[in-house]
Amino acid sequence: MSTLWHGRFERGPAEQLLAYTVSLPYDQRLFPDDIDGSRAHVRGLGRSGLLDESEVQEILAALDRVDAELSDGTFEFVPSDEDIHTAVERRVTELAGPVGGKLHTGRSRNDQVATDLRLFTKRNIVAIVERILELQGVLLDRAVEVGDAYLPGYTHLQRAQPVLLAHHLLAHGWALARDLDRLLDARRRLDVSPLGAGALAGSSLPLDPEAVAADLGFAAVFDNSLDAVSDRDFVAETLFDLTLIGVHLSRIGEEIVLWSSEEFGFCRLDDGYSTGSSMLPQKKNPDIAELTRGKSGRLIGNLAGLLATLKGLPLAYNRDLQEDKEPLFDAVDQIALGLAAVQGLMGSTTFNLDRMAAAADSPTSSATDLAEHLVAGGTPFREAHAIVGALVRDSLDGGADLADLVVAHPALGADAVALLGPGVAASRRTTRGGAGPGPVADQVVRFRNRLATDRQHLDDLGA
Ligand code: ARG
Repeated sequence: MSTLWHGRFERGPAEQLLAYTVSLPYDQRLFPDDIDGSRAHVRGLGRSGLLDESEVQEILAALDRVDAELSDGTFEFVPSDEDIHTAVERRVTELAGPVGGKLHTGRSRNDQVATDLRLFTKRNIVAIVERILELQGVLLDRAVEVGDAYLPGYTHLQRAQPVLLAHHLLAHGWALARDLDRLLDARRRLDVSPLGAGALAGSSLPLDPEAVAADLGFAAVFDNSLDAVSDRDFVAETLFDLTLIGVHLSRIGEEIVLWSSEEFGFCRLDDGYSTGSSMLPQKKNPDIAELTRGKSGRLIGNLAGLLATLKGLPLAYNRDLQEDKEPLFDAVDQIALGLAAVQGLMGSTTFNLDRMAAAADSPTSSATDLAEHLVAGGTPFREAHAIVGALVRDSLDGGADLADLVVAHPALGADAVALLGPGVAASRRTTRGGAGPGPVADQVVRFRNRLATDRQHLDDLGA
């Protein structure tokens, strides 16, 4: 078998070597980026006079054909195709004849693969950001739809103070806004072309890496060829950003698992977004929500694995770096699927607003309001806290209604009892960013504006 690098070899590669080192099964998804990179490289060779115009056109025509074959699935791989780069070059040479042998002039697979992976990451970040915006749009729609409905807010998973459901839903929306921001930030930083770095040291040929970078739509070009071929910071960053999205989805998921349980009963899952049990006829299971938790473990593994691969690698390219792709591809795929699934889940769930309100209207939910009522009358907060805490304890121990104890208390009385009424506590969070109707209405406006701004950022990328 002949490889692209067989010149100094007397014998072909062992079967075990190929089996172990081949990356084609997964890196073939880089083909659009590989072809784009090759087109720009060939045009660059033309501008530098290393290829004449007809050679450029012949190679570009062969690349078009390879692109078509890979797109429609008619491309025939052969056993010596180690990776997508060698497969494309091999086929270009078959199609274009000897001129195909000029495609790799001044280039190494080391700068080539780094270029391909940056192009891949750039376009996939855009696709993920698009899905984040869609999920955020659903959270916003649901927040608007449920109006002033409220539920218990929890700390330590113990009822704390009532909050509007809209407030709760938008809390997840803001986390996703940071995720989106992080991805666009990572994209800006990775928007640097490594093409022209060669194997590690640049070239003696008159290449023009800057012009090729511009041709490929990169915002900048590498400053150091060693760094250009060995830098996978962008993979680590993107993986972290995707992993954190996974963690955020898992937190949403955990709540849906709780809320859909009979014990909470805060929501009922849509048939299309839940599963049944093969044995238990009554079951309706929140599998999407559970898998957001499960898959976040795998995403964390991808990130940790990549960092371990990079740790201690000497400059410049090492074959270890081939291990950058599968974790990134897996994270991109899982997050794209996860965002879409959670979007469907959140968009279709029926919230049981009565049940949420009933849970939030337990008198102890207003304990903080009672204390703040005393504070408004001049009682130091610590003292107010102790007074109300004692009333709650008396009520729990003695079985008396908290309301009766409040009426009877000299510092509280009938005015204060009104605070225990249904929905009153939920309505009393009035400060900026708080959980009551006033600030939540403002928040909805700010969130909607944020989505519009982020959408504009995305559109400005022209991707
Ligand atoms: N498949 C390789 C990778 O993903 C391409 C680069 C190989 N370079 C080399 N010198 N063997 O990293």
